[in-house]
Amino acid sequence: MHNDIEYVLFTEEQIKTRVREMGAEITRRYAGEEPLFVGVLKGSFVFMADLVRCVDLKCSVDFMAVSSYGSGTTSSGQVRINKDLGHDIEGKHVVIVEDILDSGTTLHYLLKYLANRGPASLAVYTLLDKPERRKKEVKTEMSGFTIPDAFVVGYGLDYDEKYRNLPYIGVLKPEVYGK
Ligand code: IMP
Ligand code: MG
Repeated sequence: MHNDIEYVLFTEEQIKTRVREMGAEITRRYAGEEPLFVGVLKGSFVFMADLVRCVDLKCSVDFMAVSSYGSGTTSSGQVRINKDLGHDIEGKHVVIVEDILDSGTTLHYLLKYLANRGPASLAVYTLLDKPERRKKEVKTEMSGFTIPDAFVVGYGLDYDEKYRNLPYIGVLKPEVYGK
């Protein structure tokens, strides 16, 4: 598995340090509130698990599963909800937790979808941000790392459903795509 990685972009230690900073920021921002963390499956599951343990507040956790289909020639990809929330979010402070913000299609749709349900507030915390690829504008509260336009795996992120269990984030060797 490690042989398929061209180079490591962020080590386990670097990620840990940054996730702690993000958790501390959330703890400050939501002091006195009980936020609901909403993880976007599947990519966010590792980040979510580490992030909430760095948040020193009473809070709850839920997940949504979405898939996005780019239409190829236009900038408006279609997004489908595969698993919706089990919580009513009306009046709640909702914190969306995402692994990576790429074209913005997924989060743009999700923000509109959730805003319709009357949350007290809605904020996005993403671990990675690839601004060069953006097609839809998405306002994020905080992102862990800004990265160049490369396909990355590990720490929840996959290629063909694999590499999610790598403890670091790395760039795949080009020949892996051809296999
Ligand atoms: P968006 O809708 O284009 O912003 O896509 C976001 C989703 O695409 C993420 O939640 C990831 O699942 C996936 N994705 C985008 N870039 C990468 C990458 O570099 N590695 C792995 N998955 C990615
Ligand atoms: Mg994915």
